[in-house]
Amino acid sequence: MKLLPPLANSSLILVPLMLVFIALPGCTDPQETQQNNIPSANSAKESTTEVDSETLSEAPFEMTLQREPVDDKIVRYMLSNDQGMVVELINLGATVTRVLLPDDEEGQVNVTLNFDDLTKYKTNPPYFGSICGRYSNRIAEGKFSLEGQEYTLAINNDPNHLHGGDEGFNKKFWLAEEIDLDDQVGVEFTYVSFDGEEGYPGEMTVKVKYTLNNQNELKLDYSATSNKPTVLNLTNHCYWNLAGAGSGSILDHELKLNCSRYIPVDSTGIPTGELIEVAETPMDFTSFHALGERIDQVEGGYDHCYVLDNDDAEGLQTIATLRDPESGRALEILTSEPGVQLYTGNFLDGSAEVGGYEKNGGICLESQHFPDSPNQPEFPSTTLAPAEIYQQTTVHRFQFNQPKSE
Ligand code: BGC
Repeated sequence: MKLLPPLANSSLILVPLMLVFIALPGCTDPQETQQNNIPSANSAKESTTEVDSETLSEAPFEMTLQREPVDDKIVRYMLSNDQGMVVELINLGATVTRVLLPDDEEGQVNVTLNFDDLTKYKTNPPYFGSICGRYSNRIAEGKFSLEGQEYTLAINNDPNHLHGGDEGFNKKFWLAEEIDLDDQVGVEFTYVSFDGEEGYPGEMTVKVKYTLNNQNELKLDYSATSNKPTVLNLTNHCYWNLAGAGSGSILDHELKLNCSRYIPVDSTGIPTGELIEVAETPMDFTSFHALGERIDQVEGGYDHCYVLDNDDAEGLQTIATLRDPESGRALEILTSEPGVQLYTGNFLDGSAEVGGYEKNGGICLESQHFPDSPNQPEFPSTTLAPAEIYQQTTVHRFQFNQPKSE
């Protein structure tokens, strides 16, 4: 977590210029106090265009930002770049619902696991594409102490607390501001979490800004402030399958992690406190290995946090590179965070609850701080004081075969 002194105005560049505006019926927020700050029909440009799935599939290769209401609360945003890449987001959970990469044969391939029915994101048990918080990953037995006071959180992953609790950030409706610049399009989502929400102290304002540029980079800029000391650990929970979501398992994908250590955990997923060298173990991804090569030697499959090498280096660091040898598609992840949770979709079981995806149908690479840091004094701190601003940046840089020109 990079902490900066408070700024007079920490908000990021927001340009609410839209290519397409659609009047939305009423309020979009279930927390009743927050509304999607989307321009009303009156503020729309005159060239109002209805967006439907047909126009989506025919999206031209140019940078555009589009928006459509899904129901009276859920709004979908579509970011397209001039390379033919499309990212779809919804305000529920500030979630990535699809990432479409152009493909010569198939036209477009969606490489992130999703629910076709967007109302399923109201529960979303596997956390497909969502922002997790306040504390992504686990806190042992849902307890931690801060400044001499003990706090108790929901036990939603017995016996521990996982991804912010029963009603984590993935289940909240976020305010949305569109960003439409010459070289990037995006949405900045904001959520105000009340003091005591899910047991966490302090009212916290969280922002996650997603932008897509013409270098095929999907960038997430996070920031947060709190009016009381608290803890946080934000991440995005996309499951990637570069061969196409639903096309089978990711066990043939090859992974490289710039991490020579990982964090061993007990049988409930809580760190033992050690950081262990991966060398000469099935955990070693310091050079490319197929995910399936040694997964059988890892009990339950990969579900571990890895520690970034050279964490002190300036700027964003490449922490992970994933590639699908068959399609040639690749994803490089650069981050300001000290770790990445490698999770190989071990709990996907083909049921409707998880969108019908089978075990190992996707891989999560969640850049974040270490699990259970509030109870692990040796780990980098995840405490946020009122005078500080939490900041995280993570970039997803995609590579794909350029579509043939007409
Ligand atoms: C965790 C898994 C958990 C999954 C839930 C991952 O981030 O590491 O243990 O089952 O999230 O989708």
